[in-house]
Amino acid sequence: MIQVTVTQGNLAQQATDCVVVNLFEGVTTPGGATGAVDQALGGAISTLVASGDFTGKIGTTAVLYANGNLPAKRVLVVGLGKREKFDLKVVRKVGATVQQALRKLQGVNAYATIVHGAGIGGLDVQAAAQATAEGALLAAYQAPNYKREKHEGTPISCTIVEFDSSKIGAVEAGVARAQAIAAGVHHARDYVNEPPNVLYPVEYARRAQAMAAEVGLKYWVLNEAEMSELGMGLLLAVSQGSAQEAQMIFLEHAPAGTENQPPLILVGKGITFDTGGISIKPSADMWQMKDDMGGSAAVIGAMEAIARLNVPRRVIGVGVCVENMPDGRAFRPGDIITGITGKTAEIISTDAEGRLVLADALGYVARFNPAAVVDLATLTGAIVIALGSQAAGLFSNNDALQNALLAAADQTGERLWPMPMYDEYLDDIKSDMAELKNSGGRFGGVATSAKFIEHFTEGYPWAHLDIAAMVWAGSDKDPATPKGATGYGVRLLVALAESFH
Ligand code: BES
Ligand code: MN
Ligand code: ZN
Repeated sequence: MIQVTVTQGNLAQQATDCVVVNLFEGVTTPGGATGAVDQALGGAISTLVASGDFTGKIGTTAVLYANGNLPAKRVLVVGLGKREKFDLKVVRKVGATVQQALRKLQGVNAYATIVHGAGIGGLDVQAAAQATAEGALLAAYQAPNYKREKHEGTPISCTIVEFDSSKIGAVEAGVARAQAIAAGVHHARDYVNEPPNVLYPVEYARRAQAMAAEVGLKYWVLNEAEMSELGMGLLLAVSQGSAQEAQMIFLEHAPAGTENQPPLILVGKGITFDTGGISIKPSADMWQMKDDMGGSAAVIGAMEAIARLNVPRRVIGVGVCVENMPDGRAFRPGDIITGITGKTAEIISTDAEGRLVLADALGYVARFNPAAVVDLATLTGAIVIALGSQAAGLFSNNDALQNALLAAADQTGERLWPMPMYDEYLDDIKSDMAELKNSGGRFGGVATSAKFIEHFTEGYPWAHLDIAAMVWAGSDKDPATPKGATGYGVRLLVALAESFH
């Protein structure tokens, strides 16, 4: 991860490769730090704006050269967009835009910036500092590299300069929060980006264990023998065709005094590769099913951030890690299987495996007496059709939990959209021989998957997030979300854990 440091001083006086100033759309005479730099440059920023070459639009930047008028070599002007639309989400995006713009330049290895929005923007200083740093850190992510050459466009370190010494403490606290959260997002992206031959359930568990030791989370794991003892027939059926052993990863955060608090439990689907099994998927884009572990990556990444932030509540994270493969021993369409709750399911499609592994995980976690359980899963292609990649689907049996999730989504910009849970959807997954079947066909495919899972929850407040469209970006989604694994859900779950009572 790149370095983000905080220093007290005057931005215009920083000796660095580039100083970063900002401008709202429509401003012709810059003020504050931007005004000071403009003056030192003999009005170059005012001229840039007057020329119409730079309008302050969000996502835009312009480079100017100081030519000895400042200790820094360059000035980057970044647009803050329209004043009416300005908020912390914009600040995060601006922080990311700066990192993306500067890493494309040849001679820039470090830059100095003010906290976007804390002065004229009128935002809370700590929150604005967090968002500025978070944007830079998220934009600076680099996926694991299997090429012999190093990455192009090395990420660059960032110094946040604050003039007012009474605000330094708040800026530092915001930057520390951003570093904790970005560490979780980066690792979540890594888990998903890693190829499925490298990151299979046992290796995933090893990485979670190493992370847990580093940040002080309690870690334990259930292996297949233990899951079999517990009666997790649905999960084991999915794993049956794979040479890789399934693992259920547990991470617990319980600061002193919260050991007996009913936990918030986060459960993530962790299919390290989904071929579809005997109901095999078309081969064309099958490689992308390495992202079918995005729910567990969000949970494990969030647990890392929750530990680093020392969130004052008990949280348990569960990664349900299984590989879904076709094989002579694989489970089949037509099989009827009993899970941990004793409830039975008829297999219609071995490709509807996510709901099976979640059913056993959700049955199992009832023993922790949860305050609430939230599962995240790349569960259906139907949610991709319904919402595209602008929001994950939210299903819940509890209004308070649903509202807490919607508030967290609004705060972080990791969007959720509520979906219906009508009882009539259950009719589509009634089976002649078992209690439920694992697929109800094309119509209402999102809702029937959620009803299937709900059937295996054990009365506690529960929400299910179908994040199938959110975990992977085929091209750069926004400056803070480069192409590949997005780490969607980490920031959302951290916000939930911090606000949940
Ligand atoms: N992992 C897939 C869902 C998925 C599809 C995620 C596309 C990301 C992009 C899941 O296991 C699956 O295969 N679901 C089936 C269910 C069907 C067989 C009832 C689907 O949605 O097609
Ligand atoms: Mn599948
Ligand atoms: Zn799947």
